[in-house]
Amino acid sequence: MLVRSLIPAVLFATTLARPAVRRTAPHLRVHISVADGILNKTTDGHIQVLFAPAGTDPLEDTDVTSSPDYFFGQNVFGLATGSSVILAGGDGESTDFNVWGWPNVSIDEIEPGDYTVQAFLNPYEKVTRGDGSTVRLRFPCGDGASGIAGYGTPVTNAVNFTITGNKQTIDLIFNNITGPEDFTGTEIGGCHQGNYEDTDFLKYVKIRSKILSHWWKRDVYVGANVLLPYGYDADDTSKRYPVVYNQGHWPGSNGPLGYSTNVNVSSVWNNGTIPATEDAPARDTPKMIIVTFRHETPYYDDSYAVNTANLGPWGVAINEELIPYLDSFFNTIPKPYARIQQGGSTGGWESAASLIYRPDLFGACFSSYPDSLDFHRHQDIPLYDSANAYIRDNGSSIVSIRELNENNTEVVLATVAQENHWELTYGTSSRSFQQWDIWNAVFGAQGYNGYPLEPWDKVTGEIYPAAVELWKPFDLSHWITSNWDNSLKLGKVLRGRIFVYVGTADNYFLNEGVAQFQSRVEAKGGAGWANFTYIEDAEHGGIYNGLDVWVYLELLQKWFVDHAPDGKTPLSPSVTTSAAVGNKWADVIAHGGHKAALARQAPPKVEGKRASVGRWDPGVKLEAQWFVNGKPCGGAFAVKQGSKVSFSGKEKGLLQLAVTGRKRGYATETRKSNRSICS
Ligand SMILES: *[C@@H]1O[C@H](CO)[C@@H](O)[C@H](O)[C@H]1NC(C)=O
Ligand SMILES: *[C@@H]1O[C@H](CO)[C@@H](O)[C@H](O)[C@H]1NC(C)=O
Ligand SMILES: *[C@@H]1O[C@H](CO)[C@@H](O)[C@H](O)[C@H]1NC(C)=O
Ligand SMILES: *[C@@H]1O[C@H](CO)[C@@H](O)[C@H](O)[C@H]1NC(C)=O
Ligand SMILES: *[C@@H]1O[C@H](CO)[C@@H](O)[C@H](O)[C@H]1NC(C)=O
Ligand SMILES: *[C@@H]1O[C@H](CO)[C@@H](O)[C@H](O)[C@H]1NC(C)=O
Ligand SMILES: *[C@@H]1O[C@H](CO)[C@@H](O)[C@H](O)[C@H]1NC(C)=O
Ligand SMILES: *[C@@H]1O[C@H](CO)[C@@H](O)[C@H](O)[C@H]1NC(C)=O
Ligand SMILES: *[C@@H]1O[C@H](CO)[C@@H](O)[C@H](O)[C@H]1NC(C)=O
Ligand SMILES: *[C@@H]1O[C@H](CO)[C@@H](O)[C@H](O)[C@H]1NC(C)=O
Repeated sequence: MLVRSLIPAVLFATTLARPAVRRTAPHLRVHISVADGILNKTTDGHIQVLFAPAGTDPLEDTDVTSSPDYFFGQNVFGLATGSSVILAGGDGESTDFNVWGWPNVSIDEIEPGDYTVQAFLNPYEKVTRGDGSTVRLRFPCGDGASGIAGYGTPVTNAVNFTITGNKQTIDLIFNNITGPEDFTGTEIGGCHQGNYEDTDFLKYVKIRSKILSHWWKRDVYVGANVLLPYGYDADDTSKRYPVVYNQGHWPGSNGPLGYSTNVNVSSVWNNGTIPATEDAPARDTPKMIIVTFRHETPYYDDSYAVNTANLGPWGVAINEELIPYLDSFFNTIPKPYARIQQGGSTGGWESAASLIYRPDLFGACFSSYPDSLDFHRHQDIPLYDSANAYIRDNGSSIVSIRELNENNTEVVLATVAQENHWELTYGTSSRSFQQWDIWNAVFGAQGYNGYPLEPWDKVTGEIYPAAVELWKPFDLSHWITSNWDNSLKLGKVLRGRIFVYVGTADNYFLNEGVAQFQSRVEAKGGAGWANFTYIEDAEHGGIYNGLDVWVYLELLQKWFVDHAPDGKTPLSPSVTTSAAVGNKWADVIAHGGHKAALARQAPPKVEGKRASVGRWDPGVKLEAQWFVNGKPCGGAFAVKQGSKVSFSGKEKGLLQLAVTGRKRGYATETRKSNRSICS
C-alpha cells in the first residue's frame, strides 16, 4: 500500500464531495483521433484525459491527496486508425460508457482558465482465462503496472488550452507510444517483469510460469531480484544460506536494501563489514540471501503472492515454480526453518499470507503494518457490519488516509469515497491498478461479468454482504480460527511463527485490522500465540519495529540460527506439514471462479401465482414484468433480490415472469421464467 503518496497540497473536505449532477449544456468536448501506426488493430481500452494548471506536466501530480489536475476517464470500444472518440459531460450513472471524472464527475464542471491537456489510452488485451471466461485487461510491460502512461501507452501531445466556458472543442491526436528505454525488443519474455543487468551482488531472474501461462493462455513471467551475501561463492555448493523473501510493491531493478530504507546500505552489503557506531562495534554483514519478487499483473504492481480467482495461480507460480528454480540456481538452504517471509504494507499482508497458507514452506513471517489481516476492519471500514463503505450510520465519512500534524492531531487526507471515486477515473470493473481495486481482485470472487465481484458499489459505497461473504477465505484471522483444530491444526502449526508490527497512527488505519486479528487469534491461542508490536503514534512505513536495518537483519539471522535443527528451538517437522496448506488453487477457483459465478445465477420461476425472481450477483438491481399468454400484463415494477412476487391480475392463461437485471459493469440482462398454468 506504500504506493499511495502522502504529500498533501490540497486537503479535501471529509464530506462526500460528489456534487449533485449539474445538467448544464455540454460546453466542452474533447475530440481525440488516432494517428497512423499507433493502433495496429481495433482496440478496446480506457482513455484518460488530464487537465493540469497551464505549463505543468499533467503527469506531475495525479495523486488523490494533492491532485491539482482534473482527471477524466472513459472506456472506449473498437478504436482504430482513422476513428475518433469524443469525451463530453459525465453524469456518474453509466461509468461503463460515459465520462467519469475526478474531483468532479463531469467535464462540464471544469472551471474556465488556462490548462495543459493530455490524453492517454490504456489498451486492453482480450484474454480468455483457463475457466473459459473472457476479460479485457492491460498486461503490464516491466513498469510495475502503472495506472496511467505505462509502457506501451498511446499518448497525445500535451497542449495548452484556454477554457472560456463557451462551447469549445479540444482536438487531440494519439500520435506517440511510450516505450521502455531499457528494452530492445529481443529479450526473453519480452518486457513483462522487466529486464535488468546483473551486478556482482544482485542477480535478476525471470522464468516463464507454466501454470500462469496455461491459465491466461498467453505467456506470463515471474521474476526475482536476488541479493547475495558478502563472500558468496557460486561454485562452493557446500556453503549454503538461509533466505529472506522480501514481499512488496514492484521493485524494478532495486535490491531490497536499496529501496526499503533511506540509508544507502548497498555499499556496506558489498563491503561485508557493518561499520562501528556509538552503540555497536563493527561486525560482519548477515550471511543470508534476500529475494524480492517481480510479479506485476494485469490488476496491480504485484500479485499479492497468493492464488486468487481474478489474478490466477500466482501462489503456485511463486512458491512451486520460482522458488524451486531459485533453489536449484543459488546455494540456498531449501528448508522451512531457513526461509523467512518479510515485508511492509502490501508486503506485510503478502508475507503473513505466505506463511499462513504455506507453513510447510516457510518458517516465520515478520510482517510490518500489513494490509487488513481481519476484515472486521478493512482499513477503517467495518466491512462485515456496515451498510456503506463510505458513510457511517451516524452520517460521517469513513476516512482512508490520515496523518498527524505537528501537534499530534489527526488530519484527514482522503476519505474512502474520494479514493474510490478517484480510482474510477483510472479504470472501471476494478481495473484501475490502484489499491481498493486490487483488494477487490485479490480478496473477491470473480463476478458473473468476468471481473472482480466488487464488495460495494464504487459510486455510492453500498456494501453487498453476499459479495463480502465470498472474501472470507482471505480474511486471515477467519482462516486461522476456522481451521484452528481441524485437520489443518493451524492453532498448533502457526503458534510462535507470526510477528507483526504496526504504528497506532498508521496512515491507512492498518493498526485496526491488526488489533482485530490479535483479539481473535488470542481468544483461541492466548497471549503470546503470535508476537505483536504496536508503536505509539508511529505512522505507516519504515523497518519492522522501527529497527535499524542491520539490527533487523541480525534479528532474522538469529531466528534462523535458533530454529535450525541444531538450534535452541528447532522448528518441528510436525508444524511444517503439508496437511496445513491453504489457499490451494483448486479450492480458490472452485470457490470464486467462473463456474462458481455461473452457479450463483438462476432464472425466475413461477409456481401458481407466485414467482421467485431468480438468483443474481450481489448488487444487481431488478425490475420485473408479468406476461400472460406471452403478452405483457401490467407495468414493470422494481423487485428485490431474494424476494417472491405474486400475480394479482384477473387474466387467465400461461403466466410468465421476466426479470431484468442492471448493475454497473454488467451487461443488462433479461431472464424469463417458463410459462406456467395459472389456475
Ligand atoms: C504497428 O506496426 C508498425 C509497423 O509494423 C510498428 O512499427 C509499430 O510498433 C506497431 N504499433 C503497435 C502499437 O504495435
Ligand atoms: C504552455 O504554456 C506554458 C505556460 O503557460 C508555457 O511555458 C509553454 O511554453 C506552453 N507550451 C506550448 C507548447 O505552447
Ligand atoms: C469540483 O470539485 C471540487 C472538489 O470536490 C469542488 O470544490 C467544486 O465545487 C466542484 N466544482 C463544481 C463546478 O462542481
Ligand atoms: C515519442 O515517445 C518517445 C518515448 O517513448 C520519445 O522518445 C519521443 O520523443 C516521443 N516523440 C514525440 C514526437 O513526442
Ligand atoms: C550507494 O552506494 C553505491 C556503492 O557505493 C553507489 O554506487 C551508489 O551510487 C550509492 N547510491 C546512492 C543513492 O547514494
Ligand atoms: C570495507 O570498508 C572499510 C572502511 O569502512 C575498509 O577499511 C575495508 O577495507 C572495506 N573492505 C572491503 C572488503 O572492501
Ligand atoms: C460517527 O461515528 C464514528 C465512529 O464511531 C465516530 O468516530 C464519529 O465521531 C461519529 N461522528 C459523529 C458526527 O457523530
Ligand atoms: C499547534 O499548536 C500550536 C500551539 O497551540 C498552534 O499555534 C499551532 O497553530 C498548531 N498547529 C496546527 C497545525 O494546528
Ligand atoms: C516479540 O518479538 C520481538 C522480536 O521481533 C522480541 O524482541 C520480543 O521479545 C517478542 N515479544 C515477546 C513477548 O516474545
Ligand atoms: C423450463 O423448463 C425446462 C423443462 O423443464 C427446463 O429445462 C428449463 O431449465 C426451464 N427454464 C427455466 C427458465 O426455468
